Amino acid sequence: MDKKRVAIIGVTGSVGQEFVLSLDNHPWFEVTQIAASERSAGKKYVDAIREPSGIIAWDVGGEIPEYIKEMTVRRVDEIDTSQLDLVFSAVESEAARDIETSMAAELPVISTSSAYRYEEDVPILIPGVNDEQSELLDIQKKNRNWKGWVAPLPNCTTTGLAITLKPLLEKYGAKKVMMTSMQAISGGGKSGVSAMGITDNILPYIPKEEGKVRIETRKILGKLENGKIQDADIRISCTCTRVPVIDGHTESVFVETQKEIDPKVAKETYNEYNKSISVAGLPSAPKDYYAFHEDPTRPQPRMEREVGGGMTTTIGRVEKEELFENGLKYMLFSHNKKMGSAKGAVLVAEMLYKKGKI
Ligand SMILES: NC(=O)c1ccc[n+]([C@@H]2O[C@H](COP(=O)([O-])OP(=O)(O)OC[C@H]3O[C@@H](n4cnc5c(N)ncnc54)[C@H](OP(=O)(O)O)[C@@H]3O)[C@@H](O)[C@H]2O)c1
Repeated sequence: MDKKRVAIIGVTGSVGQEFVLSLDNHPWFEVTQIAASERSAGKKYVDAIREPSGIIAWDVGGEIPEYIKEMTVRRVDEIDTSQLDLVFSAVESEAARDIETSMAAELPVISTSSAYRYEEDVPILIPGVNDEQSELLDIQKKNRNWKGWVAPLPNCTTTGLAITLKPLLEKYGAKKVMMTSMQAISGGGKSGVSAMGITDNILPYIPKEEGKVRIETRKILGKLENGKIQDADIRISCTCTRVPVIDGHTESVFVETQKEIDPKVAKETYNEYNKSISVAGLPSAPKDYYAFHEDPTRPQPRMEREVGGGMTTTIGRVEKEELFENGLKYMLFSHNKKMGSAKGAVLVAEMLYKKGKI
């Protein structure tokens, strides 16, 4: 089988590096072109990821895969779309808007940026949660007269929340949610948070994050009806904070439901969803989509971040919430660079490939 030829744009960044790893020896996709900003263009990959001091800044652990070390980083306008089947975009949203618009005119684009997330004909995809919303991509392509489309992932803080709320919404009618996040440093990108700012500290504010979580969760958990997504009827309040953890977001969640919900039954519900999850068997899918712990000391970032190759969402501390007539509280862990961005984007590509959209 000929592999699909893919490009990674923003390949030198925090998410871009994770893409490099997620696509190493992939059975269906082969990285044939890479791009980043003017600063990196023209350099070999291994030189482009050096800090100004000359130190190689490879922040995803393990070795840099051999296939990429000597590959030359291009400027975006040097990307040859005629030699590609798919683009992965991992640049910040302002630059992403123009880049993704010009790429989608020619090719499918899967993006970790927010540039297109809030447009009516654009789904925000989490494989295993709202695969059916990918049908909107055909409408988007037609609407915009493009040969491709843009399929964005959510913000990495939304991912774990939407994944854990899905069974609670479908089975128990989740209607109100309060969430406080403890987000990893790597979520801010390679130059997002200074060491002096985050060491021995907690930052109580992440610009624009809370609005993104509110809007995106309702859209992801909504329903595609007559070519439009009807947002889920769920109210969300959240406080997003940055903590001195390198990778993986932890969130404390309170949910009010329409039907009564027993914490023991919640465990069975997540186990049932594990058995019928749509992405089972895809190359980047974890063995267990949900991990449920009764040990009250879980989840912990250092223990959870490798589980399921960073693609499992961990749930713990599930208890009845007395503030509501029917309610539950729990903590979740979701890896921001694996399921929450690069590897999750590869899983989106696998799901869409299976559906014949790539
Ligand atoms: N970090 C996360 O956990 C996470 C999770 C979900 C979504 N996201 C989203 O994913 C995107 C990338 O995030 P990140 O954390 O990887 O950011 P980052 O570490 O700052 O990396 C940004 C990348 O974009 C490139 N770039 C910047 N301006 C460009 C331009 N005009 N043309 C081409 N390339 C350009 C940079 O190249 P140079 O190295 O040459 O400057 C670098 O490769 C953002 O939209 C972010 O919001 C991030």
